[in-house]
Amino acid sequence: MSKEHVKDLLMEHFMNPRNVGELADADGVGDVGNPLCGDIVRLFLKIKDNKIQKATFKTFGCRAAIATSSILTEMVQDKTLEAALQLSQDDMMQALGELPPLKRHCAKLAEFALKAALGNYFARARSDTKLAEEIVRRIHDPREWRVS
Ligand code: FES
Repeated sequence: MSKEHVKDLLMEHFMNPRNVGELADADGVGDVGNPLCGDIVRLFLKIKDNKIQKATFKTFGCRAAIATSSILTEMVQDKTLEAALQLSQDDMMQALGELPPLKRHCAKLAEFALKAALGNYFARARSDTKLAEEIVRRIHDPREWRVS
């Protein structure tokens, strides 16, 4: 993929982000703040029959944070919860064509928002707080946000 295409795709998702806004009847909500810069993502998930039916987001952050949040909502559509849990910052960076290393933490913000929303769903629907607790621990671990 050419550098121009990468820039175009990133800008396209930044200028025209998909699935922006709140889901009033969300089954899982993930709130994550990036300790490196203070940017914030809130992700909403509608879940049925173990699959993500719909994802929306509200992001207060940089271009990369908005673009990765946007592409994340497309990537999780119709995924099983198990498959969604496997998505990482690298998958989002690859889908956008590769972000510069200095922007890796922006994609990490989207990954953690997804895991936090799934953790919130498991806590609500299954009284299982393991994932929610793990994500809180990981968000506060500086090694998780390292740049390279
Ligand atoms: S600079 Fe904060 S998430 Fe991108």
